[in-house]
Amino acid sequence: MKFNEIYAAVGHLPCTEESQCRVLYDWVRESRPAQCLELGFLYGKTSCIIAAALQENGVGHLTSIDLEAVRNHKDNPNILDHLAKTGLQEFVTPIFSAISYTWELKKIIEQQTADNRCEPYFDFIFLDGAHTWETDVCAFFLGMKLLKPGGWFLFDDYMYSIEKSEWWSKAPAMQDKPTEYRHEQQVERLVTLAVSQHPDIESVVIRDNWAWARKNPSASVVAGPAVTHLTKTVAKRWLLDLLLRRKNKTG
Ligand SMILES: C[S@@+](CC[C@H](N)C(=O)[O-])C[C@H]1O[C@@H](n2cnc3c(N)ncnc32)[C@H](O)[C@@H]1O
Repeated sequence: MKFNEIYAAVGHLPCTEESQCRVLYDWVRESRPAQCLELGFLYGKTSCIIAAALQENGVGHLTSIDLEAVRNHKDNPNILDHLAKTGLQEFVTPIFSAISYTWELKKIIEQQTADNRCEPYFDFIFLDGAHTWETDVCAFFLGMKLLKPGGWFLFDDYMYSIEKSEWWSKAPAMQDKPTEYRHEQQVERLVTLAVSQHPDIESVVIRDNWAWARKNPSASVVAGPAVTHLTKTVAKRWLLDLLLRRKNKTG
């Protein structure tokens, strides 16, 4: 599906602006990622944009994760309705999480793990979710396990802060947060302190309030050490000591 066609169908939805949707669409067309992951889909606007580009490519799939709450959000049509309306269902697997996208990433890492090694699965990860340090630093490190060498991570809202956001600055959940937390540009801190310092990140480029980071094509995917269960040894020794003490008392 061409950009103008998909934008005519979903352009009225909030969040990502037309110019950024265009950049996203063109990037997917040019880079042809096979497996894409989106963290935060809300009504599915950018999901539909990515899916339309994948359809045009003739190859590729998007897994997209958000919270269960957006299934029925303020009477708005949800991602399922928008995918049905645009006929793009086969290109997207939406996951409505009861917990968080970090929880769903745990499940994907479990699926991808064999012999204590996580096989990377995604060529592209678009993080447009919480925009907060605790959640998104965690999402980044988990995402890096699943991102293929040479793959791309895209971070939305580089300049975001709670205080600058009309909606979040008034949200009840943010009213008891300290000033430093409300004023901090938390995505910028994530990109500067976690992403650009990660040993497997090759480059970071900021463009139009977005941060693009590439995983080094020669990053290795090695198995970790086997986990040694000392607890079992300690428990056995404790039980033996107990039995010996009892025997000595009675003997
Ligand atoms: C800005 S919206 C996404 C907009 C979408 N990418 C677009 O432009 O069409 C952010 C979304 O992230 C979701 N989100 C925030 N924290 C989350 C978490 N911990 N787990 C899952 N989804 C989360 C919110 O529910 C919200 O729908």
